[in-house]
Parts: sequence; structure tokens; C-alpha cells
Amino acid sequence: MPQTDTVTVTIDGIDVVVPKGTLLVEAAKLIERDVPVYCYHPKLGPAGLCRICLVEIEGMPKLQIACNTPVADKMVVHTLSSAANEGRRAVLELLLLNHPLDCPICDKGGECDLQDYSMAYGQGASRLADVKSSKPKAVDLGPTIVLDEERCILCLRCVRFDEIITGEQSLRTDDRGAHAIIATATGEPYHSDFSGNVTELCPVGALTSKTYRFKSRPWDNHRTTTTCMQCSVGCQMHVDARVSTVQRTMSVPEDDAISDGWLCDRGRYNVGYVNDDRRLTQPLYRQNGEWVQIGWDDAIGLWASALRETIAKNGAASIGAIGGGRLLNEEAFLLQHVYRSLGSDNLDWRSGRQHHAYPGETGGTHVDLENANCIITFGRSPAQLAPVLDLRIRKAVRHKGATLIVVGDQASSPAMRSTRAATFADAIEAIPAGARRIALVWDGAPSSESAAVEAWAATLPAGTVLQTFVLGEAPNARGAEAVGMFPRPGSLDTQAMLEAGRDGKLGALALLGVNPVLHWPDRELALAALKKTPFVVVSELFLTETAEYATLVLPACSAFEKTGTTTNLAGDVLPVVAGVPAPGEAWADGDMLVALAEASGVQLPAPDEIEARIRVLVSQVPVIPPMTAIEAVVPRVMVGRDTVRVIAASTIFTGGGTMAHDMRLGELRTPAGATIHPQTAATMQLVAGDVVDVAGPDGGRLEGLTVALDKNVPQGAAVLIDGIPGAPLNALRGALSVHVTKHAERREAQA
Ligand code: SF4
Ligand code: SF4
Ligand code: FES
Repeated sequence: MPQTDTVTVTIDGIDVVVPKGTLLVEAAKLIERDVPVYCYHPKLGPAGLCRICLVEIEGMPKLQIACNTPVADKMVVHTLSSAANEGRRAVLELLLLNHPLDCPICDKGGECDLQDYSMAYGQGASRLADVKSSKPKAVDLGPTIVLDEERCILCLRCVRFDEIITGEQSLRTDDRGAHAIIATATGEPYHSDFSGNVTELCPVGALTSKTYRFKSRPWDNHRTTTTCMQCSVGCQMHVDARVSTVQRTMSVPEDDAISDGWLCDRGRYNVGYVNDDRRLTQPLYRQNGEWVQIGWDDAIGLWASALRETIAKNGAASIGAIGGGRLLNEEAFLLQHVYRSLGSDNLDWRSGRQHHAYPGETGGTHVDLENANCIITFGRSPAQLAPVLDLRIRKAVRHKGATLIVVGDQASSPAMRSTRAATFADAIEAIPAGARRIALVWDGAPSSESAAVEAWAATLPAGTVLQTFVLGEAPNARGAEAVGMFPRPGSLDTQAMLEAGRDGKLGALALLGVNPVLHWPDRELALAALKKTPFVVVSELFLTETAEYATLVLPACSAFEKTGTTTNLAGDVLPVVAGVPAPGEAWADGDMLVALAEASGVQLPAPDEIEARIRVLVSQVPVIPPMTAIEAVVPRVMVGRDTVRVIAASTIFTGGGTMAHDMRLGELRTPAGATIHPQTAATMQLVAGDVVDVAGPDGGRLEGLTVALDKNVPQGAAVLIDGIPGAPLNALRGALSVHVTKHAERREAQA
């Protein structure tokens, strides 16, 4: 008989042809038969724990579980027979035996699989004569999640997510039988940058998110599907809003191409800022040192006349604009179009340490990354800059046998095995012989590693596929770069604009969705430029560190309040859809730029033409001149007993805008700290919880950092976190080492 790779199975009288090995539960989906499941999940695989998925298979003496039965050729299956339904009824009776049935006050009510299947297959009444056993309710599982132990049906999806998908293995079951409960392996609070996914996976109301508990009912929510704009991965997500308040974001399980069906906790939990009272809702103009609220006509008029007068006095080279990474593609396009039409090429999307967004000819898709045989990462960690992309790396390493090589000081994730390489040359040596699909993942910041890539790539043997992933510092870094938010040769980039501002050579500077005072590597320069430039217009959601120095502040819409497209790090142009109205008089940056164009007499292409041009531009190679050297960097390393090398790092919960203004985040927000090796700490007579100041060689200083100890930090170094408003790392002006001074005061050590 000829061997084929497909089999034909008959499900409820319908023939289905599927690849050999397909699970019955998946084959049934092809004819829109949703076999009920609790423990099974397509991304976690079968566990065979709950038995709700019982089906009848002709020729088999007993009911079988559809989630763990591969189809066989000529198999005849009944998913809706009375025997199958009776099996499910019995399973539900057991699951409900001690279940509290507190649906009216349960957050899962209305979207709970236990509720739904009880209605579909349950018997409607309990035969239990005894009192139900009780367990603790509202157990604090960690900073993001509350556990109701009575509601748990022990499907173990949460534990398996934590093991299979993140590899973190911090959840487990404690105790046995009817007493079994979900707990953390260490007894410590559950910390994970992906913790919110377990609340979605939980088929009942046992795991609920602290930020969403008791906030809304599913039927009161209005759902929009959009792209997360918290980083450059571009995860697709649902936004649930009640009236005009964003209540929660949820993953899109079908989004295999980008998010793989997950969200990180930044995308999930950093949404409370949208409705924060401190949002800017009216244009603000500085008059005699005081903020005055003005209308939009006046605001746009002031911006247009400042540009006109500056150009008339000193020429178009004395105006410039920085921004685009946090804007939509269309907005970034309009920004460069208006300024170029006025005669200025002083444009730049770069507002932090990232200098490149385009990955070269070797870009790849998110799915390509998980299929690499060898992954080399350098610069800031993908786990922090692009969390859900890091799950692809974990998948490649933990489930597909890829080799991970981590270069330099980048923290390596304990969730997966990696090889540490001191230099890029060492990393090349560590590539396994025979690796034919190599992925490079880096942060787009210039470094010795990035400088070495091109020459090495040219030496790769024929047949080797190299794919490069440049992690964006801002969600739309790649889109902004593609649509032209960069200087032409001879015009000013960000560094040069700030220097020109400081030196009194810039008359008008626009900053749209950027915060150089917190993020530009030289804080002093950013401050000096803002103070010296006669007209600074800032478009922002909040009165940020940068907006405080503006002449004119324009209240902007968040990504939840505007519609357009964004481009992720892989070059996918993705939809952004407004889910709630903007607060007060806030405008989308695009609307501000259209009004500015009108007030300045600039012709704009039609919206259709802009869309078409964006799609072409995203596929082209941007030719950007190299960034002006950052002159303030002090490349000296101090040596001494109380001196440590600086390792700059990020976390997913740092930042000065949305993060600093999301009151719901509470303890998730990263505190200002210095993490050092225990032995280095001992030499410096420091213990965890001590409070220190650090000072760079040129006097830049950070005060009040809490010391934490970690044996994974190299000895003689301190990990300092970038982007914390109270302790801005850019105050150190790129110092490579710092002198540490201890305070008398102590604090609780940070986890
Ligand atoms: S807490 Fe939820 S996901 Fe975890 S085992 Fe219990 S029911 Fe399943
Ligand atoms: S990985 Fe990035 S895009 Fe995805 S949910 Fe997290 S912040 Fe949003
Ligand atoms: S879903 Fe099949 S046994 Fe749980």
C-alpha cells in the first residue's frame, strides 16, 4: 500500500483529511466542532488531566480523550453522542463537587469555561449532601495575580506555561488530591515578565489580574483589536474598554506570526496611564515662566509662526525635529514631510542609545528566529527590550535545540542554557560546526560587536543563512527610520541638534513623543539645549522631564486613541486601532501635523498616497549618515577599591512617561538600584539594602541607589538600570566606571 502523510477521519459524520499525528481535538476544529477542553491548550500540548474532552470512537470500548488521541485513518468519531455527553456530565460533577460556584462575584463570570461547559453538559444540580470543603480565597500570588484556591480545577495550564513557554519553573502544585493547590516553587511571590498570560490561560476564575479584578464584566466591555505599542515586537492584542476607560489588554491566540499568542506584562499591565488624571488635556504655553492653557488654533499658530520667524531670521537649517519612534508610520511620515517642505533636513527619530533600526538585507521574521540553529545576542537584553521575542529565543533553545551565545555583559536568562562569550570574536568561535541558520539579535546601539558584524558576515560559508533582529528602543523605530525621519548628509542629527541648541544655533526644536532629558545618553547636553533654544514644542501625554522645559506643550493621544499603522522590528506594517476617545482636548500627532501643514502652507499628499509610500519605504534600505559622536562620553575607567565598572541595563518596567504615570503598576515599577556581585559588595563593605551614591569621572552623579546582590553580575561591576525618572542613568554621561559612596541609611533589600 502506498504510504501517505495524511489520514481521513470521520467526525460527526463529516470526513476530514489531516496530517498523520494530528490530535483529534485539532482535527475537530477543522469542521468547527469545539470539543471542550480545560487542561489542553494548543501551545502547551496535551496533559490528559481533566478528561472533559471525552469523545466516542467506534470500535473502542471506552470513551477517549480527544486532546491526547492522534487520529488514525478511517477512524469514526462522535463528539456529540449521548455517551460522550454523559462522560462530560460525570467529569463536571466531580469538578463542581467542591467548587464554590461564586460566579456572581467571580471575575471570570461570563467568559468561564467551567460556567459554559456546566451549562452545556452539566446536570444542573449537585447530589452532594455534605458541606463543600473550603480553601483560602484571594491569596496574593505575587505583584500581578490573586489566586482563589477554591476555584482551581488543577488543569495545570499555569504551571505548564511557566515551565514550557517561559522556562522559569516558578509555579508548581503543593499537597495532593483534594488538598492540592497552586503555589510558587520557592514560597516567594510569583515574579515573571509574562505572568499575566496565566490569568488568560486559567479556564476558570482561579487566577485573576490585580489590575482588572472587579473592574468590569465581559459583556460591558467594548473590544478592539490593535497592535501593542509598548515595544518593537508588535504583538497583536485585544483592548477591552468599558465606556471610555481601557480596562485590560488580552492576547490574540491566533497571532502565531508575531506574538505567538502571548503578551508580556508591560503590554498587559502598563495601560492604566491612559485614564490617569495627570494626562495632558489642553495645550500649554509658557508665559513669564508660568504655564497658560491655550486653544488649539493658538497653539498651532504659535508653532507655525515660530518656524516662519526662525527660518526668516536664520534660515531653515535653524529648525529641527526629533521623534517618530513612538508615533504611527503616518505621523512620522507627516513630520518629516512638513519639515522637509519647510526646507529643513534636521530630522531624527533617534532619542536614546539605538542608532539603527533597519536590519540590513538579512532581516527575518519572528518565526525565523525560533528556527535558528544558533542565536547570538549582544547589547541590551532582548528579554527587556522585546520580551515576547525573547520567548521565541527560549522556544528555539529549549525546544528546538538551538545554541544561544550571549556576548559581553548582557544578562543571560536563567530560563535557558547559554554560552557566554567575552567578545564577538569569542562568540564566532563558539558557533557550533554545522549551524546553517544563524540569528543575530542586538539593540541597534553602536558597539565593538556591531562594528565587527559586517566583516564576519562576508566570511560565512555558502549555504549559511544569517538573519538579523534589531530591537527597537521605541515601538516604531523601524517605521520612523523607514519613512524618512533621519537627517540627510550635511544636516543635523539628534546629537548635532542638541549641540546646536546648546550653542544658541537652533531657533526652534520640535520633540514629538521623545524624552531626551531621561533617555539621551548625555542629560546635561539635552538640558542645555532645551534651556537655550528659543522655541521648543513638545508633544506628549504627560508633563515629562523634557516637556517641563518646553515653550509649548501639546497634549497627544496615546496609541489606544488613534488609528493608523506601525512597523515592528521585523518590518511588518501593523494596524493600530483606536479603542477609546482621547481625553479632553488631546489630539493625535498626525492631526497636529496636518494643522501645522495648513498653517504653514505645506501641501500634503493624499492619505492613500501616504499609505502606499509607507509600504514602499518600509521595504527599502534607509541611507542614514553615521551619528555625530557623542562628545560628552568619558572613556576613562577609574580604578580603586570603591570603584566599579558600569553595566547599563533596562527592565520592562522603566520609563518616564506611561510607566511613571501608571498608578496601577505599584511595586512592578523598577526601583533605583545598583546590583553587584556579593564578593564585590563584601570588598566594599556593602550588604543588600545599603543605600549608595555613585559618581562618574566627570562629576555626573546618581543618588540614593539601593544595593542588591546577584552572583550573576561580573565581579567589579554594577548593573545600573536605565530610564528611571528619579535616577536617570544619563546623568552619568556615559561614564564607564563609577565611584560608590555608602549612606548611613539602609532600606529593605529589593527582590
Ligand atoms: S490556577 Fe487556573 S490554570 Fe492553574 S491549575 Fe488552577 S485552574 Fe488551572
Ligand atoms: S513584547 Fe512588546 S509588543 Fe509584545 S506585549 Fe510586550 S511590550 Fe507589547
Ligand atoms: S482537555 Fe483533554 S484531558 Fe483535559
